[in-house]
Amino acid sequence: MAMSAPTAPVHQLPAEAYFSQEWFDLEQEHVHATTWHRIDPEVAARASGSLAVDTWEGLHFGSLRPAQSLADALGALPEAIGSFRPSELVEVGRTDLVAACNWKLFIENHIDVLHLWYLHDESLAAYDHTRFEHRSLGENWASYEPVRPGSAALADSAPPIGHLDERDRAGLGAHLLFPDTPMATSASFFLTYRAVAVEPEVTRVEVRVLGEPGSAGSELVATARSFIEEDLDACVRIQQAVRSSHFEVGPLALDHERPITAFHHQLLRRIIPSNPESPLR
Ligand SMILES: [Fe+2]
Repeated sequence: MAMSAPTAPVHQLPAEAYFSQEWFDLEQEHVHATTWHRIDPEVAARASGSLAVDTWEGLHFGSLRPAQSLADALGALPEAIGSFRPSELVEVGRTDLVAACNWKLFIENHIDVLHLWYLHDESLAAYDHTRFEHRSLGENWASYEPVRPGSAALADSAPPIGHLDERDRAGLGAHLLFPDTPMATSASFFLTYRAVAVEPEVTRVEVRVLGEPGSAGSELVATARSFIEEDLDACVRIQQAVRSSHFEVGPLALDHERPITAFHHQLLRRIIPSNPESPLR
């Protein structure tokens, strides 16, 4: 008897989720206001009573109307980042990248596995994508892939982080604190790059690079930009297409794009129940 192929659970957002002001406002109210986001120490220092501030591993996070504590929001993510201890590192570089795309495109790109082979075929060529491991941790997400034997890891000229175990010295981590704070780790850096939703079609990516004291910040920022800008360029091109009447989200791959369907589901779960009159129904 013929069996139908397994398919991923479908929770795909409509095209207007990527450009309409109505969607943007709903997300601000029901997703961004109630979750935690990486913020700069200087923002935390001048936060008034309207912004809740907490720290994890020396990193500052803020939330306008937190639905849960930062510790609960992080959940199992602290264990999933392996031996990295950001509190033992210092910020050695930062840059803000502004791009003409919806913030969700950047997050979806970050948690997509398939694009590693294509979009980053040179910038991340040192890593063995066939051994990429990823898992959902509640709303968060964590991943790891080892460097190919004999290949030079990203930023291998920078001082390696002294406290890492062997696995983390020989691999690349990519993680997400839901909804908009990606992280990436290598032997010589721990970086966060929050995707701030500025307008429906404008995103500011706040790249913050941590490393051992004395690391060349400008070189580590350039390394981070080498793959982040590849992602942003793709997001901007997709943004240009989402208004087309021919645009639709196609079927997603069962495993390698499953994190995207999970991300959509989490967004809808937060938005729809509290909005019975929502146009999303
Ligand atoms: Fe990417």
